[in-house]
Amino acid sequence: MQLRVENLQMEFKQKTALNQVSFTIESGGLIGLIGPNGAGKSTLMKIVATLLKPTQGDILLDGKSIITNPQIIQRQLGYMPQQIPYVPQLSAVEYLRYLAALKGLPKEASDQQIQQLLSLLHLHDVQRQTLATFSGGMRQRVGLAAALLGDPKIIIVDEPSTGLDPIERISIRNLLSELAQDRIVILSTHIVSDIEAVASNLLLLRNGKLVFQGTADKLITTAQNRVWEYVIPLGQHPQDEDNVSELRQSQDGIHVRVVAEKQPTPEAIIVAPTLEDASLVVLEGK
Ligand SMILES: Nc1ncnc2c1ncn2[C@@H]1O[C@H](COP(=O)(O)OP(=O)(O)OP(=O)(O)O)[C@@H](O)[C@H]1O
Ligand SMILES: [Mg+2]
Repeated sequence: MQLRVENLQMEFKQKTALNQVSFTIESGGLIGLIGPNGAGKSTLMKIVATLLKPTQGDILLDGKSIITNPQIIQRQLGYMPQQIPYVPQLSAVEYLRYLAALKGLPKEASDQQIQQLLSLLHLHDVQRQTLATFSGGMRQRVGLAAALLGDPKIIIVDEPSTGLDPIERISIRNLLSELAQDRIVILSTHIVSDIEAVASNLLLLRNGKLVFQGTADKLITTAQNRVWEYVIPLGQHPQDEDNVSELRQSQDGIHVRVVAEKQPTPEAIIVAPTLEDASLVVLEGK
């Protein structure tokens, strides 16, 4: 499967949320959509999920426009919004059954799938509790189960790891990465380290513009020769604090990591960039 986004433009009254965004992705490998607050991630995902019509541009699924024919994608789509809707008085299993019925899934097969998803997302034991009693992270996992109902071939998840503890975060990341082997899976996050281990392709959005598409290795090379480290005595403050990407206290002093084009101080030495450094370079133009 191939998804092709062509010159996508989204204008809200006061704001250009997407500005001539174009890219092509294929099934096989998780796609990480990364950008700071307000970059346009959710807007892009809603447009691909056909919940929002773009001002201009087109999206083609295997060559066919989903803007003119939304049903092409709708019947094979699982979408998890950033704000998970839920019905407080329903239990997890009732809620998922209700959504399965709305999707028109056959009862027996979907009941079986619901039990599988509840186990996979570690909700099996709490499935009869009402959603009102669920923690944020539990609700998040119900939202993901809802998106995976009916085994969609295109999965779009908007910040799935919000509110999850580290164990659940890793578990969901691995689940999505596995699903991505033969599906299109797009996941958004603010934090590149969240998906560093699993995303085969990264899309970086900055203020509505696509500023990078490629592998994590390719992103790291963009930060080569731009990451510096120097040591200051304990108790001192680094100069130029805006560019500091990390401060690490050690026995010999404070190790200051700086992302900058020029050498920040004569003692600073060039160090190998991490993916985090590289995303700072691209997203903050350092
Ligand atoms: N319905 C809307 N009406 C007006 N402006 C909107 C609307 N939806 C989004 N925007 C604006 O478009 C821009 C992009 O918003 P979007 O929600 O896509 O960002 P995001 O990358 O998902 O951010 P976050 O990380 O906070 O979730 C923001 O400036 C936002 O204020
Ligand atoms: Mg968002």
